[in-house]
Amino acid sequence: MSVTRTITVELGERSYPIVIGSGLLGGEFNLAEYVSGSDCLIVTNETVAPLFLDAVIVNLAGKNVESICLPDGEEFKTIATVESILDQLVSDGANRDATLIALGGGVVGDIAGFAAACYMRGINFIQVPTTLLAQVDSSVGGKTGVNHAKGKNLIGAFHQPQIVLIDTDTLEHLPDRELKAGLAEVIKYGAIADAEFFAWLEDNIEALIGRETEALARAIYRSCEIKAEIVSEDEREAGRRAILNFGHTFGHAIEYCEGYGEWLHGEAVAAGMVMATALSRVATDDEDRLRTLIQQAGLPVAPPQIDPEKFLAAMSRDKKVTNKQLRFVLINELGSAFVTSSYDEEMLDQILKSAG
Ligand code: NAD
Ligand code: GLY
Repeated sequence: MSVTRTITVELGERSYPIVIGSGLLGGEFNLAEYVSGSDCLIVTNETVAPLFLDAVIVNLAGKNVESICLPDGEEFKTIATVESILDQLVSDGANRDATLIALGGGVVGDIAGFAAACYMRGINFIQVPTTLLAQVDSSVGGKTGVNHAKGKNLIGAFHQPQIVLIDTDTLEHLPDRELKAGLAEVIKYGAIADAEFFAWLEDNIEALIGRETEALARAIYRSCEIKAEIVSEDEREAGRRAILNFGHTFGHAIEYCEGYGEWLHGEAVAAGMVMATALSRVATDDEDRLRTLIQQAGLPVAPPQIDPEKFLAAMSRDKKVTNKQLRFVLINELGSAFVTSSYDEEMLDQILKSAG
């Protein structure tokens, strides 16, 4: 994409832009403009730092920039890692006007965002996502947090960034498996909110897997547009935002049961979406189309072998559980989703047994 495009997440005085383009990192984009004080701390990891840290420092010309490099992996998405960031902020003497900048995938973004939400009861925060998954999902919408030994993302806060800066060139470095994991969330947007986009994905899946720049840029743009629209309507997930968790109740349980990091988040969500579609009892054609697209994206269409009782127990820790009742995001048809605690229990039993 040669042009830079901007989408606004409309949240009143906390509105912010999602800027999407090529050649933004290390280029002329003035990220310093979004840093209100003079101090900023870039939070990144050992994989991403050698690729993009110097470039982002160029975008911050004129600011006092420090950085912290975390170990890489979902298993480090813990409160202990957040503490290490808070320790550095304290030892740097960071004030309330300091800004944290998350440079990396969803793991770095979630951790850094939560540290920003906690330090001095909340400091400014910027997202520079470098994986497809982070660009289309985790960097937008202000959900931040870490895992607990007993469940995924159990500790966290809503804390919106000042800006999300997406340089699509960063994806050139991304391993294939990670690219495909990001495509799971892209497919999710089509399945829950836009049947036309879903059909476009069916037509362009090869181009996306082949990393064709135009196709990827369009997929990122439309995904961010859908997410921005939903978050603007329901920032704190009082209602509609929950549909963004399509496939996640099953997916989070897979991640937990397999051990964090074994199944990538996007892979678990892919299998979870197939399971949620089976529970939705939609027309066979829609079920087949979703399964086929996920398969063509090189993603799993079935969970690993997990004891059904263990699976159910893991799902019961999901944040969507209310009054001890499981809630699922189901679809009416491709492009339309809803949240419900009323589902076919026998069908769920069958789905879990076929996984076990
Ligand atoms: P990740 O952050 O672990 O990144 C995947 C891998 O790619 C890592 O090894 C990372 O170091 C590496 N990497 C990052 N950018 C790279 C690049 N450009 N080139 C090469 N390697 C690169 O995983 P992810 O899929 O980005 O994020 C998953 C996390 O996001 C999960 O913890 C999930 O819970 C969270 N998430 C949060 C939200 C939210 O709304 N906050 C939404 C979806 C997912
Ligand atoms: N990834 C789900 C959400 O942001 O609400």
